[in-house]
Amino acid sequence: MSDQKKILITGGAGFIGSHVVRLFVNKYPDYQIYNLDALTYAGNLENLKDIESAENYHFIKADIVDAHQINQLFGEHRFDSVIHLAAESHVDRSITDPLAFVRTNVIGTVNLLNAFRDTWKDNFEGKLFYHISTDEVYGTLGETGLFEETTAYDPNSPYSASKASSDHFVRAYGETYGLPHVVTNCSNNYGPNQFPEKLIPLFIHNIKTNKSLPVYGDGKYTRDWLYVIDHARAIDLVFHEGKEGETYNIGGFNEWQNIELIRVLIKQMDEKLGRPAGESEKLITYVKDRPGHDRRYAIDANKIKNELGWEPSVTFEEGLSETIDWYLENEEWLQNVTSGDYQKYYEGMYAGR
Ligand code: NAD
Ligand code: TYD
Repeated sequence: MSDQKKILITGGAGFIGSHVVRLFVNKYPDYQIYNLDALTYAGNLENLKDIESAENYHFIKADIVDAHQINQLFGEHRFDSVIHLAAESHVDRSITDPLAFVRTNVIGTVNLLNAFRDTWKDNFEGKLFYHISTDEVYGTLGETGLFEETTAYDPNSPYSASKASSDHFVRAYGETYGLPHVVTNCSNNYGPNQFPEKLIPLFIHNIKTNKSLPVYGDGKYTRDWLYVIDHARAIDLVFHEGKEGETYNIGGFNEWQNIELIRVLIKQMDEKLGRPAGESEKLITYVKDRPGHDRRYAIDANKIKNELGWEPSVTFEEGLSETIDWYLENEEWLQNVTSGDYQKYYEGMYAGR
């Protein structure tokens, strides 16, 4: 879709963003990749150490909530395309502080849309605003059924409400101003570099350090899991070949109840840590449920599969094994991100459960 060369990737120091930045920097040496990130608790330049001195890579520390700064940067660099990943991304944090999610996810997105529109409004030819979103905007499913691209939005958490709002703004800018855009809604990602507040990296960390594994509610909540590198591959494909104005769902064809997933994780970790099989099951602790907890997410990813030829490249067992290995080999990364404020967050989030 776009053959433009000056690409702004927002949130590139975060979990998914860092994999997207790496893929684009390595695969497209002719593109200039600008990674704009505010470096919140979730942003970590260590994620990009291997490519930070590449000639086509540039880092900009900026906050998308700051309209003045964003407008200046667009004035200076005239980015032809945006791949927008910067966001507050953790549901539990959104329950504690919804406004932080309105600021970054809603106002931040509108600031980017305004700057992009002001820069290119006289000729949008060959330009693209690619917005990365989540399946959580669709709300929750019963025991059957899948989220389709046409499923009505029905968000239940402040996080998903803020993402839904940003998706609507992107679409509305397309309708109102003719702004060329594409949106993808992806299921739960896992893989290297994910901040240990989300289920999989948190539980890897806790199993390793023999801490309890806080399972919310009855543990029978269901998510569809996708390896982050497969998400980055999908983003590359949609950026280049997706149809303007379209939405694509991205998922792993890989549904797991939390408790079943946790058992697979324990099995693999006990093996890798040389513990007797099932030893870490004793760490499982059922705790108070998350308010408004969505029961089940499951994605129908057949549109991107049939129209663009994308599908996941690794099985869940392979992806999980690689993920565990990464966390076990990157002790220092984990120590750096779990020092300081992390302890305060952890105690605050789990004390009352
Ligand atoms: P993350 O929390 O790991 O990273 C977010 C990044 O955005 C961080 O580097 C952070 O510093 C940056 N950021 C936050 N606020 C900012 C601001 N105001 N200005 C500039 N930068 C800011 O998130 P992630 O899991 O990598 O998710 C990336 C995107 O993908 C998000 O839009 C999220 O909604 C979406 N998504 C995530 C998942 C998932 O399972 N993690 C699934 C589907 C969609
Ligand atoms: P999470 O990784 O926070 O992703 P999301 O809420 O965006 O799907 O959580 C995945 C599932 O795991 C979700 O059903 C909530 C559950 N969960 C726990 O049971 N315990 C925990 O400590 C966490 C963080 C999540």
